[in-house]
Amino acid sequence: MDAIEIVGGNQLQGEIEISGAKNAALPMMAASLLIPGETRIKNVPRLRDVETMLELLNLLGVEGGYDDHSLRLDASRIASTEAPYDLVRQMRASIYVLGPLLARLGHARVSLPGGCAWGPRPVDLHIKGMERLGAEISLEHGYIVAAAPNGLRGARIAFDISSVGATGNVMMAAALARGTTRVENAACEPDIVALADFLNAAGARITGHGTKLIEIEGVSSLRAIEFTNIPDRIETGTFLVAGAIAGGDIVCTHARPDHLTHVLSRLRDMGCDISVEADRIRLRAGSPLQSVDVTTEAYPGFPTDLQAQFMALLAVARGTAVIVETIYSDRFTHVPELERLGAHITLRGNVATVRGVESLQGTRVMSTDIRASSALILAGLVAQGTTTVSRVYHIDRGYEAIERKLSGVGALIRRIRLDDPLA
Ligand code: EPZ
Repeated sequence: MDAIEIVGGNQLQGEIEISGAKNAALPMMAASLLIPGETRIKNVPRLRDVETMLELLNLLGVEGGYDDHSLRLDASRIASTEAPYDLVRQMRASIYVLGPLLARLGHARVSLPGGCAWGPRPVDLHIKGMERLGAEISLEHGYIVAAAPNGLRGARIAFDISSVGATGNVMMAAALARGTTRVENAACEPDIVALADFLNAAGARITGHGTKLIEIEGVSSLRAIEFTNIPDRIETGTFLVAGAIAGGDIVCTHARPDHLTHVLSRLRDMGCDISVEADRIRLRAGSPLQSVDVTTEAYPGFPTDLQAQFMALLAVARGTAVIVETIYSDRFTHVPELERLGAHITLRGNVATVRGVESLQGTRVMSTDIRASSALILAGLVAQGTTTVSRVYHIDRGYEAIERKLSGVGALIRRIRLDDPLA
C-alpha cells in the first residue's frame, strides 16, 4: 500500500500550477452521453475519479479516453444504460449518468451509491428531480430503475436543500426535455456554472446558472464541442493552506481567484498577505496565525471540501476556533488523526472546537477520505519530525501528483510503499 511521507519544518517558496476541476470535469464527462459525436474536454486533471468515470462511460459504450490532460469522448453509440454497483460504490459521482441516459435513451439502471465515511449520502433529490421531469422510478435490489418511454418534459423543481449533484443531474436531463424546466434553490457552485456553460456551448438553452433559479429550455439535440474545464478551487485552497501552515511565499497559477473569495478573506483574517492578479493568487504566510471561526455553507460560502484542511491550519494557529460543518452530518473523520499529531480538538455534534497548539509532532496517520488525506499532509508540513499518511489511494482520487507539486516548492515529501497490508 502506498503512503506519503513528509518531514516537517520547511517553508514553501515558488509557484504551483493548479489542475482542472475534478468536480466540474465529472459532470461534463457524464454530459457527453447526451451528445452523438466526439466531445473534447481540455484541462482535465489526471485523477483516479476521472479514470473511474471513464471506465463507466466506456462500459456504457462511449469511446475514448485521456489524451494527456484532455479527454476525447465519443458517445455516438450507447451500448448499455446500466451503471453497476462495483463502479458506483467507488465513486458517488457515477450517479451523474442517470439524467443523461434518461434524456438520451429513455431508460437507466443505476446502482445506489451506498454510504461514505461521513454518514449516509442520499440521492433522494436526484430521484425527485427525474420524477418531476416525467420519469417513472423504482428501487430494485439496490438499483435505481428509471424509465421515460415518452421522453422527459419540462417541470418546476424546487429543491428543499441545495444539492450540487442533483442540480447537475436535472440540468443535464432537462437539456433534452420537451418544454422548459425551472430549478429553484439550485446549487450555485462554479462546477454547476461550468456544466451549464458546457451544455450551452453544445446547443442547450440554460439561463440563471450561478444563481438559485436556473431555467432550462429543452432542445431536440446537442452537438459535439471542444470545451476547456475550469481550474480546481479546492485544490487551490488546499495549496494556499499549505503555504499558510508551512510559512513562506507561494503563488498558485492557472487559478480562478473569483471562485475563492470567501476562503481568501478567511486566510487574510488569519494574518496571511494575499494578492491576486488574473489567474494567479500569491500568499505570504502570516506569523503567528490568528484563529478564526469557520462555518461551512453552500457556495459562495466557505466550502465543506476545505473544512478538514482549515482544521489542520487552525490546529497550529494562536487562539481557539469553532468549526461548524453544516453540509454533512459528521465530516470529522480527520479529527482523531489530527489529534494523533498533537492537535487539541473537541467534537460536539457538528461543531469542532480547535485550540491552537505551539507545535505538532509527526507520526503515522491514516487517510479516511480525499480531503482528510490532504489535511493530514498539510499538518505533516509543519509537524516536528516525520509524518506518514497511509491509504493515499484516497488522495489520488482528488489531487494530481500532490507530492510533486509540494516538493516543487520546497516541501520534504515523497511517496513510499508500506509493506504493512493493513496500512
Ligand atoms: C458534491 O457532492 C462534491 N462532489 C463534494 O465533493 C462536495 O463535498 C459536495 O458537492 C458539497 O459541496 C462532486 O462534485 C463530485 P450535494 P454531492 O448533493 O453533489 C445532501 C470532494 O471532496 N443530499 O451538494 O454529492 C447531502 O447528503 C467531494 O470532491 C441529499 O440529502 O453533494 C449533503 O448533506 C466530497 N439528497 C448535501 O445534500 C440528495 O439527493 C449536499 O450534498 C443529494 C444530496
